[in-house]
Amino acid sequence: MRVAVCPGSFDPVTNGHLDVFRRAATLADRVIVAVLINKTKSSLFTVDERIEMLREVVADLPNVEVDSFYGLLVDYCKEHGVQAIVKGLRAVSDFDYELQMAQMNYRLGEVETLFVSTNPLYSYLSSSLVKEVATHGGSVAGLVPDAVLERLHATLEERR
Ligand code: PNS
Repeated sequence: MRVAVCPGSFDPVTNGHLDVFRRAATLADRVIVAVLINKTKSSLFTVDERIEMLREVVADLPNVEVDSFYGLLVDYCKEHGVQAIVKGLRAVSDFDYELQMAQMNYRLGEVETLFVSTNPLYSYLSSSLVKEVATHGGSVAGLVPDAVLERLHATLEERR
């Protein structure tokens, strides 16, 4: 069985991420969307909230599941029988860092990284931009799944 992982912070998941998960789901028998538990980075949503939203948005993808991890991604891959890391490449600017990580992950754990080219509709999209725009009252409808849009507005409202 081919198992792939889509790792990330997903704070929150965007339609760009979702596009990558869908495409990974056609390449692997089983796809794990793995949320990094990062104790140093501040986030808008807790890991549990991010997992909840992710589970909601991948509910229609039978071979996709959601998990979290702490520490090195290659260790997670080894423990969970993952053969490939699947990432989206939005633009050339993503490439340098992604290549560095892919090479390091191969060196550390001989885990392959596969890149899918992000749907051009979402090539400018990032979780940080979504949060910034929404914080200042801009519309992010169509950029994040509807379930996320509601949570985003509610969370930002609570913080005001
Ligand atoms: O959504 P992000 O924050 O860009 O995702 C980055 C992520 C989680 C893919 C990356 O930081 C990662 O894999 N972190 C786990 C720690 C690790 O393995 N570091 C070495 C990477 S070469």
